[in-house]
Amino acid sequence: QNTSYILAVETSCDETSVSVIKNGREVLVNLIASQIETHKAFGGVVPEVASRKHVEVITLIMEQAIEASGIQPKNLSAIAVTQGPGLVGALLVGIVAAKTLAMALDKPLIGTHHIAGHIYANRLVEEIEYPAMALVVSGGHTELTHIPSEGKFEVIGRTRDDAVGEAYDKVARALGCPYPGGPHVDRMAHEAKTVTPLPRVWLEPDSYDFSFSGLKSAVLNIVNQASMKGETLDRSSVARGFQESVVEVLVEKAVRAVRAYGSKQLLLSGGVAANKGLRKALEERCAKENIKLLIPPMEYCTDNAAMIGAAAYLKWERGMFSDLKMQAEPGLSL
Ligand code: KG4
Ligand code: ZN
Repeated sequence: QNTSYILAVETSCDETSVSVIKNGREVLVNLIASQIETHKAFGGVVPEVASRKHVEVITLIMEQAIEASGIQPKNLSAIAVTQGPGLVGALLVGIVAAKTLAMALDKPLIGTHHIAGHIYANRLVEEIEYPAMALVVSGGHTELTHIPSEGKFEVIGRTRDDAVGEAYDKVARALGCPYPGGPHVDRMAHEAKTVTPLPRVWLEPDSYDFSFSGLKSAVLNIVNQASMKGETLDRSSVARGFQESVVEVLVEKAVRAVRAYGSKQLLLSGGVAANKGLRKALEERCAKENIKLLIPPMEYCTDNAAMIGAAAYLKWERGMFSDLKMQAEPGLSL
């Protein structure tokens, strides 16, 4: 097998990222331009603003990534890009850029699923053993996915309302933290001296689905009550109660799924995988239950192009290429 160099592009939300990956696992470069500062003023990602920001930086980041990789463009094996899910205008910027490069260099194009990217971020560090179970927790997704073999996905549980990251961001906003609030709630939870009791939502006993909007509403009620009564709220205590509820349900359902499907590994991924409380609880529980747990390094947890390159490599090996008619698929399923 020849050496493979894949240039990958990710623009599905508010990060413009370009990476070059050698042989599917060695990250030569992973540049990420975050738009967080721009979106902060709006308290969340504004799709039209996101697209425009991607347009402003994509060419430069592509040039810089190629330069920093030390690879001659003619030696690239393929150009990979996130096809979906994501914001349509944001996806389109990456797709058009990737198609143009693929056409100019006469290289194959590989449309890649964003969540497959989050999952295969784990492959940048360790070999994955199948069957595996993936817990994907991000701003747009909360999914338990059974992976019987490489590149095959069966979603066995998903959120019925808010994604975990979305719930984190909304709770953070109610507690007066800037966007994106997840890391702030995480930090406050660690500083807490007390824990505000909050409900756990388990749904039906055999369900792997999740629901976080009730929990979020419970937090909003506490915040509103306190402000109506003119009381000062112990924000850390609320953050801790929220985090404990979320983490307990995620860990419990993930472990149950691993047992039910005989998974050899549990793969954590997505932006919320950066959460210290979740990482610690999963690590402790998996150690106790003898479950092999993989968690990508922090920089490959939140949106990045290296993970897209890692997922694209598996398609490259199989010659699974896209043609230039490929479209952005905002609702692409795994
Ligand atoms: O995967 P990601 O970068 O983008 C999506 O594909 O959605 O995930 C972003 C989400 C945001 O909701 C952010 O608040 C959350 O991940 N997040 C965290 C932490 N770091 C990022 N949530 C909880 N604790 C954290 N430490
Ligand atoms: Zn993501």
